[in-house]
Amino acid sequence: MDKSRLYIEGGRRISGEIKVQGAKNSVLPILAASLLTSGTSRLRNCPALSDVFSSCRILTSLGCKCRQDGDVLEIDAGKLSDYEIPEQLMREMRSSIVFLGAILGRLRRCRLSFPGGCELGPRPIDIHLSGLRKLGAKITEDHGVLDCTLPGTVTGAIINLTLPSVGATENIMLAAAIGSGETVIQNAAREPEIADLAGYLNACGADIRGQGSSTVIIKGVSKLHGAEYEIMPDRIVAATLMGAAAITGGELMLTGVRPQDMNSTLSAYEQTGCDLYQYADRIYISAKKRLQAIKTLRTSPYPGFPTDCQPILMAVLTRAKGTSMIVENIFENRFRAAAELRRLGADIKAEGKVAVIEGGDKLSGAATVATDLRAGAALVIAGLAADGTTTVSNVHYIDRGYQAIEAQLRSIGAKIKRI
Ligand code: EPZ
Repeated sequence: MDKSRLYIEGGRRISGEIKVQGAKNSVLPILAASLLTSGTSRLRNCPALSDVFSSCRILTSLGCKCRQDGDVLEIDAGKLSDYEIPEQLMREMRSSIVFLGAILGRLRRCRLSFPGGCELGPRPIDIHLSGLRKLGAKITEDHGVLDCTLPGTVTGAIINLTLPSVGATENIMLAAAIGSGETVIQNAAREPEIADLAGYLNACGADIRGQGSSTVIIKGVSKLHGAEYEIMPDRIVAATLMGAAAITGGELMLTGVRPQDMNSTLSAYEQTGCDLYQYADRIYISAKKRLQAIKTLRTSPYPGFPTDCQPILMAVLTRAKGTSMIVENIFENRFRAAAELRRLGADIKAEGKVAVIEGGDKLSGAATVATDLRAGAALVIAGLAADGTTTVSNVHYIDRGYQAIEAQLRSIGAKIKRI
């Protein structure tokens, strides 16, 4: 495992302008979707992330050819040689479950190991499996190995999700895109990344409507061809960079973003007293005044406040004046940043779904450990505001979702290096 760590000299204001990278949670399902096409796709604005490289290893192991050409990723899915994903590749990345729907959609057969929980707690896939079974899939689970077949063509189904699961919505869209009937997903996830996946699939010849709403309709088509597609900007990375500006009392212009995807996050930063201005594809944030606490911040499915931004705002609120309360409604174990933030002097009590943060005016540098992707990012931005030196180890978690985070932050005034 990578032993590198980040060294951060805190106490410097973030200021400048930065272009936001392409969205991890859009490019991952789109990479799986490329398996459905019998041609070559070119994905522009593709971020260089370890999760993207893991996905390319899975695609290659199935017989695809992947080629990175600057920030364009080219995938040739002309012929597939296998329907099984090796266990060690499945273990590298939680979200590889989304390959299930794509492999079934193209090859009607799929075999993959599905490891249990991850850093955020158990990651059940019951909603994925019940949706795929409604499409006619035969799935056996034995000792963590899923063996699935999709006999005949998909003739459509009406599938009501018990939870608006992002991954389950994506898996059903992928399995239903090629077929002859109409599939309706009710209580579908509404995240912008779902609409981006539908955008790519429709560019490949699929017939999907209602994406972004709670009812997604997929009319099966006979085959899909490759396409050229631009990945949407990463709204969680944008929120993280805004957090860096907010916590250091700085100012930042973000470019290449879609403000309309971020309303609940923008309103959270406004509640802390930051000044925000949004234009077509840019957001300006400045934190000239002392940050204010947020009485209650609840995470919920889109368009509610995103769970992925929760650790980021937790870090920011450690510097706000007053008492903030965060309620985490999506994942069971997503307050892991709290213990590490306390090492920097933060006053946070986390119990079950609720965390209470007493904002102080000082954080001081310490050695910290990233426990998962977004908790790691939260420690980095807290380190920017802490006096002295903060180190963050287990940087590999952060590299899953942030492209060279130290280079991004250095470009807007941070003193940070990776050793
Ligand atoms: C996606 O995960 C994102 N990952 C996550 O981002 C994000 O936190 C999450 O959506 C919620 O927005 C990718 O897109 C690759 P879910 P996913 O299925 O699809 C429960 C990050 O930091 N559930 O919407 O796994 C589940 O336990 C990552 O970038 C079931 O009970 O999320 C969770 O409590 C972390 N049964 C809730 O639903 C199921 O079959 C939301 O999960 C599926 C999910």
